[in-house]
Amino acid sequence: MLGSLIKIFLRSYATKLNQHQQLLMARNLPKKEMIFGVKDIIVVASGKGGVGKSTIAANLACTLAKLGKRVGLLDGDIFGPSIPLLMNVQSEPLLNDKDRMIPPENYNVKCLSMGMLTPLDGSIIWRGPLVMSAIQRLLKGAEWGPLDILVVDTPPGTGDVHLSLNQHVPVTGVILVSTPHTASIQVTIRGAKMYEKMNVPILGVVENMRYSICENCKNRMEFFKKEISIKSLPSKLISIPLDAHIADCSEAGVPVVVKYPNSEYANLFTRLAKEICSLIEKKNDSKGDKSDASLN
Ligand SMILES: Nc1ncnc2c1ncn2[C@@H]1O[C@H](COP(=O)(O)OP(=O)(O)OP(=O)(O)O)[C@@H](O)[C@H]1O
Ligand SMILES: [Mg+2]
Repeated sequence: MLGSLIKIFLRSYATKLNQHQQLLMARNLPKKEMIFGVKDIIVVASGKGGVGKSTIAANLACTLAKLGKRVGLLDGDIFGPSIPLLMNVQSEPLLNDKDRMIPPENYNVKCLSMGMLTPLDGSIIWRGPLVMSAIQRLLKGAEWGPLDILVVDTPPGTGDVHLSLNQHVPVTGVILVSTPHTASIQVTIRGAKMYEKMNVPILGVVENMRYSICENCKNRMEFFKKEISIKSLPSKLISIPLDAHIADCSEAGVPVVVKYPNSEYANLFTRLAKEICSLIEKKNDSKGDKSDASLN
């Protein structure tokens, strides 16, 4: 009896879906739509934790704003939000007359995070579907526009948040952050494969903490002497040094590019931001004009 039940179960799951069944299943998937007034969405991701995703996302957002872009920064890390601390925006968002959250702004960047909506000592025990609905609320339940670029910081890995983001909104491209060690690079490649499968363009890799610059002699000190060359690794956008100023500024809630606008770090982030803008432009040129989606 049990054997035949297992056989029926296996057979039903092994069967390829016909077109009608595929259509029925697609009915329950959320519809992918632009966020009103937002032109482009850039996701910052990495399979590994602690490699600098949030630091890169915050500094990139501030740099894009300095370049004259209208920028938002969404903290997609539901369980471990860090944007409120990095950007020094702790206040609860106000609601407008349509009951939509107004993202608080600092350094000319509109920010929104679960950390603004939950008490610091409150534990979050949400599972998959709730995480997905939280992301949807942060994306669509807020008055983001008009924005040129919404930067989304994500938690480590390739889980519910990443899938949910890609199901709800058209992501212009993803920036992968990695340190130069093998374990991080391997997981970066795995992440890149997932984005490829979801048809999300990969803009490139930001390498973090390969080297440091000596404060006295200004020489570069390498922590990883060998460059790991792997064909399937997406191209490198920039390499950001390990530096106490970067860490200190993050702790103080003033991104290093804001605190030291004429520093080498600021130059590196400006190069990164300009490269991202030009990649976005190229993608949009090849897709046709997206200006309909913007409020301008
Ligand atoms: N280039 C850097 N130089 C010095 N410190 C850095 C640098 N990049 C990141 N850090 C520090 O490393 C720690 C982790 O950085 P961050 O929170 O940005 O990583 P993350 O990848 O977002 O982590 P998580 O996976 O937990 O979200 C922070 O204390 C940050 O200040
Ligand atoms: Mg983070």
